Amino acid sequence: MTTTLITGANKGLGFETARQLIAAGHTVYVGSRDAERGRRAADRLGARAVLLDVTDDASVAAAAKAVEAEGGLDVLVNNAGIELRSEGNVASGAADVTADEMRTVFDTNVFGVVRVTHGFLPLLRRSAAPVVVNVSSALGSMARVTAAGTPGYAYPGVSYPASKAALNMVTVQFAKAFPDMRINAVEPGYTATDLNRRTGHRTVEEGAGIIVRMAQVGPDGPTGGFFEAAGPVPW
Ligand SMILES: NC(=O)c1ccc[n+]([C@@H]2O[C@H](COP(=O)([O-])OP(=O)(O)OC[C@H]3O[C@@H](n4cnc5c(N)ncnc54)[C@H](OP(=O)(O)O)[C@@H]3O)[C@@H](O)[C@H]2O)c1
Repeated sequence: MTTTLITGANKGLGFETARQLIAAGHTVYVGSRDAERGRRAADRLGARAVLLDVTDDASVAAAAKAVEAEGGLDVLVNNAGIELRSEGNVASGAADVTADEMRTVFDTNVFGVVRVTHGFLPLLRRSAAPVVVNVSSALGSMARVTAAGTPGYAYPGVSYPASKAALNMVTVQFAKAFPDMRINAVEPGYTATDLNRRTGHRTVEEGAGIIVRMAQVGPDGPTGGFFEAAGPVPW
C-alpha cells in the first residue's frame, strides 16, 4: 500500500491529483491550511485530512507527527502554490514587483517546499520507494520564457516565474543529495483553477496527469528531471 501526502489538495490540481491517486490505489492525505476545507475535500474523496500550512514550521512539524503516528509516508507531492495578481488580473512586472511580493511568493512556492520536504524526510527515508513530486511551471523554465513568440515569453510577471525557477534548482539539488529517492519537478500546463481565475485552457483532469504519473515512478524511474505530459521540459 502506497501512502501519499499532497499539499494544498483541498481544491484545484491537488484535489484532482488526490482523486486520481486514490483511484490508482494510494492512501492519500489531503494537506490543507484550513481544517474545514481540508476535511470537506477529504470526505468527498475518501481521503485522510491533515492540517498543513507550508509557510509555518510548527504546522509542518505537527502534520509530520500526525502522518508518522498513522504509519508513515511513501510519496510527497509539493503542490501548494500561489501566484499574486493585481485587480486587473495581471501579474506585477519588473517595474512594479516589490521585495515583499517576492518574499510572500517564495515563502509558499520555494521555502514551503524545502520546509515540507525536510519535515517529512525522516518518514520518506523509512519508505522502500520514496518519491517526491514538486509541482513547478514552464514559467520557471529559462528556455521557455526566453523563446520569443510563445505565451511564456509574453508573461510579464516576475515573482511567480522566479519562484518556479528556484523550485527547479531545489529539485535538482535535492535529487542529487538523496539518490535513493525519486525527486522530480513537473509542469501541469495552463490549467483552469482559482490560481489563474480559471483562465487556463486545460482541465484539472489533464493537468493532474503528469503529477500523478511522476507520483507513481518506481525506484528505476527518473530523478532530478522536469516533465510535462509530452515529455521532458528544457530547464
Ligand atoms: N493552474 C495552472 O495553470 C498551473 C500551471 C503550472 C503550475 N501550477 C502549479 O500547480 C499548483 C497547484 O495550483 P492550482 O492551479 O491547483 O491552484 P489553486 O486551485 O489556487 O490551488 C492552490 C492550493 O494551494 C493551497 N495553498 C496556498 N498557500 C498555501 C499554504 N501556505 N499552505 C498550504 N496550502 C496552501 C491552496 O489552499 P487554499 O484553498 O487555502 O488557498 C490550494 O489548495 C501550484 O504549485 C501552481 O503553481 C498551476
